[in-house]
Formats: sequence, C-alpha cells, structure tokens
Amino acid sequence: MPEVIGTIDELRNRVGETRDSAAMVGGDTRVVLVPTMGALHEGHLALIRRARQLGDIVVVSIFVNPLQFGVNEDLDRYPRTFAADLQALAAEDVTFVFAPSAHEMYPEPSNGTRVTAGPIASLLEGASRPGHFDGMLTVVAKLLNIVTPDTAVFGQKDAQQVFLAQSMVTDLNVRVAIDVVPTVREASGLALSSRNRNLNEAQLHAAAALYAGLTSAQSAAAGGSVAALAAAHALIDPQPLVKLDYLVVVHPHTFLPVGAEHVGPARMLVAALVGGTRLIDNVSLDVA
Ligand code: PAF
Repeated sequence: MPEVIGTIDELRNRVGETRDSAAMVGGDTRVVLVPTMGALHEGHLALIRRARQLGDIVVVSIFVNPLQFGVNEDLDRYPRTFAADLQALAAEDVTFVFAPSAHEMYPEPSNGTRVTAGPIASLLEGASRPGHFDGMLTVVAKLLNIVTPDTAVFGQKDAQQVFLAQSMVTDLNVRVAIDVVPTVREASGLALSSRNRNLNEAQLHAAAALYAGLTSAQSAAAGGSVAALAAAHALIDPQPLVKLDYLVVVHPHTFLPVGAEHVGPARMLVAALVGGTRLIDNVSLDVA
C-alpha cells in the first residue's frame, strides 16, 4: 500500500526527506505528480505508469476540488471510492497518496485568492461550466506549490484542461514540466471516464459514435477542416441518444476555432450529452 498523507506539512516533509535520502545514495530525486479526483480507472493508472517512467518519487493526489464545481453541478454526487482507489494504487508503484480534506486545502478564514484562467476558460467546456477552469487551475497551482514536482502528468482526454494548465505554467513561470498521456479507450473506442459508469448498454453503444466520428474526421482532414467536421457529424448526428453540445476544430496553440482556410495541425473536440451524462473527447488532426 502507498503511504497516505492528509496534511500539507506532512506531505512536504515526506517528499523532502525522500528526495534527500535518494540524493544521498546518488538515486533518482525526480518527483512526479499525478493530480486526480479519485474514482480511479485504467485512464488514471496509465497516468501513474507514465509518472513512474518520469521519476522515482510518484505522488498521486486524490481530492474532489469543490472550487471546480458550479452551483448546478452536484459536488456531493461526485463518485468517492477511496478504498477501491487505494486498492488499485496498491498494485502500482506509488510513493505517496496525498488525500487532504477540503478544510486542509481551503482553510477558513481566507482572502479567497484564485487563479484566473483567461478567455479560453469561457469557451467550450467553460461555456456550460462557468468558473470551472478557474477552480481547476487554483487547485492545480496549490498542488504544484505543495508537492513541487519536476513533472505533473495530465490526460489528453481533458484537452482544454491540459491547454489551460500548460498556459498557467508558462504565463506564471511555474517550474514544472507538463506531460500529457494519450487517452485510454474502451474496445469500442469510447474514452474512459468515471462518468461512463452512469451509461446503460444502449447509451454505451451510442456513445461510441463520438470516437467513430473523430476518427472518421482524422481521415477526412486531408480535404480540410470543413470536410473533417462533416465526416464527424455524419456519424454522430444520426445517433438519437447523443445530444451534441459542440463539435469544433481548434488551433493547438490558441485553442480558438480554426477557419475553413486552416492548414496544419489542429485538434477536433467533441462534447455531448448521452442520457444525462456529459461526455467529452478529442483527437489531433492534420488538416491539409
Ligand atoms: O482532471 C481532474 O481530475 C481534475 O480537474 C484535477 C486536475 C485533478 C484538478 O482537480
């Protein structure tokens, strides 16, 4: 079982001690952080395995961050599976699990300092989740300051989160490398997500159209971004159980939608409601 730590002071001390003892024997002192909200699945385990390749001291944080939930999003209903998460982590090479309380992370009274994510945070996922990305970046900034990792590992599935975390690190000169791990998928192509557990069999089947649409777009991108979008729509739109929120091609450097004239690398992003469950996915495109 990995060592579970609940307080910031203790985590800092243990990471420091572990770094120092590795340094004394000429060992690997690199610290890698995998931030999570728990409800761990194979997608998270892929992040943890990648972390292990990047350094010897792996810290997995498990914290359901209240700040990134909107008033209409039910924080209390977010799956909390701590015992099962620890069980899953026991089979991985994790040095510390950091599982603070909300009080430990956001003690009161406080002056409420927050990270502001900038204009991209109000687009796409941010359009239906106001404040979500400010809350996400605030907790990521706190975790980076607490753990002081050399690298933090994120999953490509949350492309906008990755873009904004990378932007924060660049804009605020945070001394950390961001490593991005490809999305892990079901055999059907559906991106793994803790929300997939809410889908019944018919919905799971319908949800697979999202990735089918994205891969069809990858082939069609040789004919331009408009052709790529048409190819994805052709597979997603006929699914009655899939209610599309957005399907868009964005520039990888700005995360803004590209025009029909765009040529070069891009990312296609999709979000849809399947039943009551919101799903997101994305792939890279080479638009010609
Ligand atoms: O992707 C998540 O699980 C969360 O947004 C993160 C990065 C752990 C911050 O709470």
